[in-house]
Formats: sequence, structure tokens, C-alpha cells
Amino acid sequence: MEYVTLLNGIKMPMVGLGTWDLRGDEVTRAVLEAIDVGYRLIDTAQMYENEEAIGKAVKNSNVAREDLFITTKLHTPFRSYDLAKKGIEDSLKNLKTDYIDLMLIHGAYDEAEEMYRAFEQALETGKVRAIGISNFSIERYNKFIENCNIMPAVNQVDSHVYHPRHDLKEVLDKKGTVMEAWSCLTQKKRNISEEPVLKEIGEVHGKTPAQIALKYLVQQGIVVIPKTSHKERMIENIQLFDFMLNKDEMRRIDVLDEGKTLFEWTGH
Ligand SMILES: NC(=O)c1ccc[n+]([C@@H]2O[C@H](COP(=O)([O-])OP(=O)(O)OC[C@H]3O[C@@H](n4cnc5c(N)ncnc54)[C@H](OP(=O)(O)O)[C@@H]3O)[C@@H](O)[C@H]2O)c1
Repeated sequence: MEYVTLLNGIKMPMVGLGTWDLRGDEVTRAVLEAIDVGYRLIDTAQMYENEEAIGKAVKNSNVAREDLFITTKLHTPFRSYDLAKKGIEDSLKNLKTDYIDLMLIHGAYDEAEEMYRAFEQALETGKVRAIGISNFSIERYNKFIENCNIMPAVNQVDSHVYHPRHDLKEVLDKKGTVMEAWSCLTQKKRNISEEPVLKEIGEVHGKTPAQIALKYLVQQGIVVIPKTSHKERMIENIQLFDFMLNKDEMRRIDVLDEGKTLFEWTGH
């Protein structure tokens, strides 16, 4: 596993398990299997209603808590300073943990700045190890950072080979905010496995089209959190560090960029 160092020195794995739409025993099993095959980053959110089941897996896993990296997010029911403060406590309780590795504001809400004050305080008291945002456009990010005391460590946004968002990445890079990709496999909106350029490049490296699509992001320093409940795919999605895409291959994948999101909902 490779890691990226966040602004405050915390190390974050470059690949994690997404858990949207997985609940109950299924997500407990999936997280235990993922940890077993080498995952250390688990991505959840209060919105996914699976924090408790993930907490169960974290408690029962053979890997020490300090070797895991748990991300969670607060959404619309927590849109004030007081509610965000309560939301952090709720997540700690649900996840059965003393601290959260990365806490994100789930969308670019009008109250995001106010919620972030509660995040900044939780960082000071050690309840969270890093704080950030999700679904912030360039414009909203620039406005947000004018008003925060601590730079967001991460902006988690929809990003994949058809919409890599190089312009946003460039803005985030300048300020040291790491870009993290949700829908890194397009949430099945596109059949990545049949994309000719990904298949051709995959054949050269002995990799699947999904691995090439993920590597394209990881090689640019973008953290990926592909979701799957299948163990064989978990293994596939994490095996990204034994090859490199050359400049020509990166350029051939660049051409897939359609310049717009595939999603109606992007958290705004
Ligand atoms: N911040 C936000 O607003 C936000 C929004 C959405 C999601 N997220 C987070 O980001 C994570 C990832 O995004 P996502 O779940 O939307 O979509 P995704 O990871 O792009 O795609 C998941 C889909 O891809 C399939 N898949 C996984 N590995 C595959 C492989 N190797 N080959 C072919 N298909 C594969 C999965 O099917 P199977 O499960 O059947 O294997 C699943 O249906 C989420 O789970 C969640 O944690 C965050």
C-alpha cells in the first residue's frame, strides 16, 4: 500500500474501501474481508447508515486500530456548529472508536463554514486526526478556504477517467489539499470493463480495465475508494502498485475526459 501525507503530517492510504449502499452484516463482512486482504482505509458517512456495522468490523478485526484509517462524513441533518459537534460524537459512538481519522463535510452546504468550526475544535481535542470537505467545486473551495483556520486536508469529489477534474486537482494541489475520488469506477454508470483503451493498456500490463482506471487516478496522487462487496474485486482493486503507466498511456486515457459529471447529485 502506498500512502499520501496530509497537510498535518497524517498518512492516508492511497486506496480504500467505499461502503455506500452496503449495510448490516454485509458491510461488517465486507470490511473484515477488505482488512484481511490489505485495506486500511474504510470510507463511510452518517448518510450511509452503516457506521455501527463498520464499527463492529473494526472492533473484531485482527489489525490494530492505529493501523486503520476511518473516514466519515456529516450531511444535511448536521448543518450548524452545535449539530456538527453532536454529529462527531454520534460517529465516535457508532464506530466504537476514540477517534476518527478523517472527518468530512459531505456537501458544499451554506453552513459548511460553521460546521467546520466544530471540526477544527475536534481536531484540537484529538477526537479527529484530520478534517476536510467533500463535493466542493473550485469556486466553493476558494471561498471556503478564505474563512477557515485550518486548511481542509482532503476534498472528496466525483472523479474517474471520464471526468478526472484536472482543473480542480491543480487548485487543490496549490494549497496542499488532497483530492480523493468517489465514483472512481463511475458507480457502474459506464462499463469500464469494456472501454477499449483501458482494455488495450490493461493487456500490456497484465491488468484489468478497472485496475487501469484506478491507477490513472492514483498515479496522479488522487486517493481512490472503489466500492465492492466481492472479495476477488477487493483484491483486484488494491493491486495497483506493481506497475506504472507511461506518459503515452496516460495521454491515451486523458482523451476519455468528457469534461462534465455523470451525476445529477454531487452534494451541492
Ligand atoms: N462524498 C460523496 O458525496 C460520495 C458519493 C458517493 C460515494 N462516495 C463514496 O465513494 C465510494 C465509491 O463510489 P461509488 O460506490 O459511488 O462507486 P464506484 O466505487 O465507482 O463503483 C462501485 C461499483 O463498481 C463495481 N465494481 C467494483 N470493483 C469493480 C471491478 N474491479 N470491476 C468491475 N466493477 C467493479 C461494484 O460492483 P460490486 O459491488 O457488485 O462488486 C459497484 O457496483 C462509495 O462507496 C462511498 O464510500 C462518496
